[in-house]
Amino acid sequence: MIAPTLYVSRLLPEVVMSALKTRFTLTADPGDAPPTPSALLAGLGPAEYAICTLTERIDAALLRAAPRLRVIANYAVGYNNIDVAAAKAGGIVVTNTPDVLTEATADLTWALLLATARRLMEGSDLMRGGSWKGWEPTQLLGAEIFGKTIGIIGMGRIGRAVARRAGGFDMTVLYSSRPGSDGTEASSWGRPLELGEVLGRADFVSVHVPLTETTHHLIGDSELRRMRSSAILINTSRGSVVDEAALVRALEDGRIAGAGLDVYEHEPAVLPGLLRLKQVLLLPHLGSATLATRVRMGMVCLENLEAVRNGRPAPNRVA
Ligand code: GLV
Ligand code: GLV
Repeated sequence: MIAPTLYVSRLLPEVVMSALKTRFTLTADPGDAPPTPSALLAGLGPAEYAICTLTERIDAALLRAAPRLRVIANYAVGYNNIDVAAAKAGGIVVTNTPDVLTEATADLTWALLLATARRLMEGSDLMRGGSWKGWEPTQLLGAEIFGKTIGIIGMGRIGRAVARRAGGFDMTVLYSSRPGSDGTEASSWGRPLELGEVLGRADFVSVHVPLTETTHHLIGDSELRRMRSSAILINTSRGSVVDEAALVRALEDGRIAGAGLDVYEHEPAVLPGLLRLKQVLLLPHLGSATLATRVRMGMVCLENLEAVRNGRPAPNRVA
């Protein structure tokens, strides 16, 4: 039997690549960098199956150029990089990788929160710069975390995993529901509140909504104005959920105290304003970046491809 054709847009962990190669014939040799538009077209064009990542924009024109394509398994939980309506219209199944990256992303969210609050990067820079003169009573004073209030914007799987960890810091958890959710998703933390109320009461605001038309710039100028001047904003979801230019203005004006960001509106570009501010901690989209998680994400993609190939429903179908 001839193995079906698979396009894999990026080099995934070794064990994932080997598992894929035993079952499929790859249409291209993926590398560490994102494919150029012409490489993407050349790889996807002849493929029956595809695994893509959030760096590949899969639009209607590209889908039309791939007439044999049956499934796109997106190697991410978010799938805003794919024109899902066009895929649906073309009879192409789209799947994602929920659940397996929830805990890693929640851990990273806390790493950002703790590091931003306690100014870890400024401390590390001081050490590496060789200019530390020793302990000082008022050096690099940060924000308290224990017993404070965290506001979670979007109480889906990742939001709930972040909320569970807040228990260890004896924090009050407030949350607003993801647009479109019925609000019953997180009853152990009480009822959802209006976004503005969460923003007004939280010492830390952490964003966990998917990027859709309704969540684009969900945190914009007026929302940032609802936040406390001592508050810190954390974003590990998608960059465009926050209006980055408005965020820079809020930080420059001291209307909020800091931000910890893992995602950006125009990755890999970062607004120069963000780079200038020492109260902003920037990470290169590391939410799910542990080997075990990235392997599980690959295996979930494979399961979804295999399901469709064997005439079963894809377990993580999003369209
Ligand atoms: C990563 O950002 C993902 O959506 O999985
Ligand atoms: C992601 O898995 C989420 O629903 O938050």
